[in-house]
Amino acid sequence: MSKKPKPKVTLHIDDKHFDLPVRQGTEGEMGLDITRLRERTSLVTYDNGYGNTGSCESQVTYIHGENSILRYRGYPIEQLAEHSDFVETAYLVIYGDLPTATQRAQFSALLTENAAIHERMVYLFESYPRDAHPMSLLSAMVNALACYYPHLATNNIDRDMVNINEAAASLISKVRTITAMAYRMSRGLPIIYPKRSLKYCENFLHMMFSEPYDLYKCEPEVARALNLILLLHADHEQNCSTATVRMVASSGANLFASAAAGVCALWGPFHGGANQAVIEMLQAIHDSGDDGTHYIAEAKDGDRRLMGFGHRIYKNYDPRAKIIGRACEQLLNKLGLDDPLLQIAHKLEQAALNDEYFIERKLYPNVDFYSGIMMRAIGIPLNMFTVMFAIGRMPGWVANWREVASGKPRIYRPRQIYVGHTQRDYVPVEKRG
Ligand code: CMC
Repeated sequence: MSKKPKPKVTLHIDDKHFDLPVRQGTEGEMGLDITRLRERTSLVTYDNGYGNTGSCESQVTYIHGENSILRYRGYPIEQLAEHSDFVETAYLVIYGDLPTATQRAQFSALLTENAAIHERMVYLFESYPRDAHPMSLLSAMVNALACYYPHLATNNIDRDMVNINEAAASLISKVRTITAMAYRMSRGLPIIYPKRSLKYCENFLHMMFSEPYDLYKCEPEVARALNLILLLHADHEQNCSTATVRMVASSGANLFASAAAGVCALWGPFHGGANQAVIEMLQAIHDSGDDGTHYIAEAKDGDRRLMGFGHRIYKNYDPRAKIIGRACEQLLNKLGLDDPLLQIAHKLEQAALNDEYFIERKLYPNVDFYSGIMMRAIGIPLNMFTVMFAIGRMPGWVANWREVASGKPRIYRPRQIYVGHTQRDYVPVEKRG
């Protein structure tokens, strides 16, 4: 833990001076506490896109974007990626410490117990169009969990906190079942139910790819790759979807409602939807016969974005991208796959890393740049990539919901600078135009 002396900050407005308190985190980062700014000065702050706004104090994840550092509960992502798996990491993210063997077994058992979904939810799937986007379906189904398991979603924070262990396990376990069911139904395939004897990732792949007459044989490398993808997505501090989850939670809404809102926020192509957009971009480059040169030129002209590149926080390599890039190569080698999109991705990466435009703006590959190629190798369809991100992010959303709920939440309610019309008088319809 590094402690720097806190600076003394004074705000000068005309001839008045206001001392602003400074809050300091355990890693030494500091933020101006403006909680009483408006009350004392009648000013609010303006921060388009919240790039300079700390909206909460959190103990879950630490990121240092300039130094490529990502830690869950203090543990470096590189160590977790090497030694842990998704379920253990989920426990760590939610409860704050690595589990003992007993805690690990209890958590796994709770996930197993809560893997099935209420049978009547199958009718909900049936009423959706066959080609519905799985993210739309996922947010609807996650929100619907509140109707089927009302004792876990009372919208009374104290009561919801009493059942948080069951609610968390239900969410983390059922999203996997929901996702696999949505996939099977979209293809007109029979639903495959979860199997108690299987581990988290193996069970998901079983529900996705087994047939009633032919069980899916899960290669250990594939299960390991899926564990890694989910683990690397488990949390990422106050990104768009997690901030949304906290925003909804701050109103007292239950975990399922808050996570459903998170799914919606994640769907966009600038956030979780980027993993789908990366493959679409690579495929389009491949189909056009371009080696990426043309695409990069268009990105530099501002006509397009190089998907899977750039990050609000990382101004250096996203540490997750480094891990996933290596794992992607290993998986394809193990499975004996030669994906032409991987060659294009390598070329784009090299070209961008040596190009002044990307260097100046500190644009590096992010987690989404290689994760899609890995998911393709596993057999996950393109329109489900962002759903996989959502499955991975559930522990982070649970942890952040829990932090809000256990901290006597104050409803999130930002201010704005109004720039619309000043007062004007109502005009009857016949006099308009
Ligand atoms: N390709 C080309 N130019 C870019 C890119 C890109 N991917 N990203 C940023 N820029 C340029 C941007 O045009 C701007 O240039 P200028 O200063 O000349 O106007 C400059 O870099 C700064 O961009 P910004 O939009 O202010 O950066 P931001 O912090 O608001 O946006 C971002 C971050 C991730 C939305 C953006 O980099 C982006 O759109 N990347 C592609 C989408 C993507 O891969 N998203 C996944 C993010 S990682 C997973 C997650 O956590 O969601």
